[in-house]
Amino acid sequence: MNLDVKKCLFPVAGLGTRFLPVTKELAKEMLPLVNRPIISYGVEEALSSGCDEIIMITGRAKRSIENYFDRSFELENLLKSRGKEELYNLMLKISNMAEILYIRQREPLGLGHAVLCCEPVCRNEFFCVALPDDVFINPDDPVLAQLKKVHARMGGSVIALEEVPHDEVYRYGIAVSQFEVEAGVHKIIDMVEKPKVEDAPSNLAIMGRYILSPTIFPILAQQKAGIGGEIQLTDALKILASQEPVWGVLYKGKRFDCGTQKGWLGANVKLALEDPDLRQVILDAVKNFEGE
Ligand code: UTP
Repeated sequence: MNLDVKKCLFPVAGLGTRFLPVTKELAKEMLPLVNRPIISYGVEEALSSGCDEIIMITGRAKRSIENYFDRSFELENLLKSRGKEELYNLMLKISNMAEILYIRQREPLGLGHAVLCCEPVCRNEFFCVALPDDVFINPDDPVLAQLKKVHARMGGSVIALEEVPHDEVYRYGIAVSQFEVEAGVHKIIDMVEKPKVEDAPSNLAIMGRYILSPTIFPILAQQKAGIGGEIQLTDALKILASQEPVWGVLYKGKRFDCGTQKGWLGANVKLALEDPDLRQVILDAVKNFEGE
């Protein structure tokens, strides 16, 4: 079996309610991290991890994502005629970045349902799933590439894990390890979506990067709505883990949850501090505005 996973799904059909009111009209994935949209970080991570087929599960009000990755002849011509070569080349680079296939999820019935919408294109092969909200700022060792290495060695499905503080487990899908097969790689035997703090079986939280077996599709097709009234991917993964190996990898890297205002602001500050043109602006702003 070919263990080189080429397809990466990006579910982007969610409503983004934690970012209302801005997400009433603007796709959450298009919020800027300095001057690039959140979605571009995930796509670049997938490409640099060796995926070359990008599939987005979109919904209403997400057209701006398609437009961002498409050509804009009017803008390109204008930049060219005004001698703005550098910006012109940047526009071309973005639209040539990847071949992207778009699939509509007609109703936001949950992440599990969004993944199920891709069955016609991923039916017989392992595929990656990347939730764009989770932005990892460690381009040298992309998290999807870390997962792909484990998949290439051991086969099976692979999920990214992070140890979170016990009082935060209710925000995540939580995994149960049977044993640690090698440093940082766990055999997963159970999962629960957003447990109460007192009921959580561990603090191993599932983060937004997965390599999934196509066996997940018939499971998802049978899946009833779970917590929040949504068809949950975690509920299907729990069943998958009882049928096939599911490995959990404690990834290396720094994650920002850009689906929350706190995480999005943190990512902006971190990226600005890493930019030689912006670093001093941030440091001065914090110093000058503090205590005002
Ligand atoms: P979230 O739980 O973050 O939901 O979805 P959301 O709608 O994006 O944001 P909030 O919670 O209302 O603020 C996790 C991922 O699954 C996608 C989202 O776009 C996000 O990438 N998703 C969720 C879908 O594609 N379809 C759905 O029906 C639900």
